[in-house]
Amino acid sequence: MDLHPLDLRVTRYAAEAKDVVLIELRAADGRALPPFSAGAHLEIRVAGDLPRHYSLLNAPHERDCYQIAVGLAPDSRGGSRFLHQQLRLGDTLACSLPRNHFPLDEHLQRYCLVAGGIGITPILAMLRWCQAHDKDWRLVYCARNRQRAAFYETLRELDPARVHLHFNDEAGGHLDTAGLLDTLRDDEHLYACGPAPMLDALQAAAGPRAERLHIERFNAAPASTEGDSGFTVHLSRSDRSLWVAPQQTILEALEHHGIELPFSCRAGLCGSCETRVCAGVPDHRDLILSDADKAEGRSLMICVSRALGDSLVLDL
Ligand code: FES
Repeated sequence: MDLHPLDLRVTRYAAEAKDVVLIELRAADGRALPPFSAGAHLEIRVAGDLPRHYSLLNAPHERDCYQIAVGLAPDSRGGSRFLHQQLRLGDTLACSLPRNHFPLDEHLQRYCLVAGGIGITPILAMLRWCQAHDKDWRLVYCARNRQRAAFYETLRELDPARVHLHFNDEAGGHLDTAGLLDTLRDDEHLYACGPAPMLDALQAAAGPRAERLHIERFNAAPASTEGDSGFTVHLSRSDRSLWVAPQQTILEALEHHGIELPFSCRAGLCGSCETRVCAGVPDHRDLILSDADKAEGRSLMICVSRALGDSLVLDL
């Protein structure tokens, strides 16, 4: 299976804020692109390195281009450094189809959109969808300072009654997340993307509002294997069984036995390794599946998730 079937040409490349570039991608032959929904991302294979994920920020009804924005990560493993320093207008990038692990519930009437730093990218697509569908929305956007606030000019032109900009240097600290949650109306859902401390603070203060809180993380915290036990995985289609050791993931055990399966992030963030469960109860550790999907236990991310019992049967 080709995980990166779209060859897309860079048709716009512009500085958006300090250490943030806007990249616009179009089909090389000018054809319409596959549709996407607000919150979706593209997986891009960058310079022969591991694939990277970037949220689409343009309006989801647009079919002629995809837009992403890339912040230069100080600890870049190569992805953002390449896109900042070597990518040129007219270059071609191998991209996946759009995937969405951060979808908006489109049946709501009221949305509180919260972005921290480069987390503004999926939130912008959501905001544009809300505008196009006449929804009641508001935006809270936090950045260290104005110079680092990507899309500052775009956001400034929006209805100031709906947009709250929070700059840490001017406000003298981080956003009061508990205070923000207290302003949430009963029928309002909060969608947030940003750095881990901001999302952790929202989750910690959510209480009974947790079911109306939807978040997307950039990175997963390093997984702890402390206290994990080994278990058996039976592969139903090939009728093979293999042992997953306590410090090993299912993906690693499969690779150890020469079985190659698609993967990307290896951190439970991207969905590339999702595998159907035929029997057994998964111990879900990913950051993608909803609580309802986890409770159903029909699939799991084999890069991080394990078995709650002695064994799992997988559709492999
Ligand atoms: S490889 Fe990304 S979720 Fe498993």
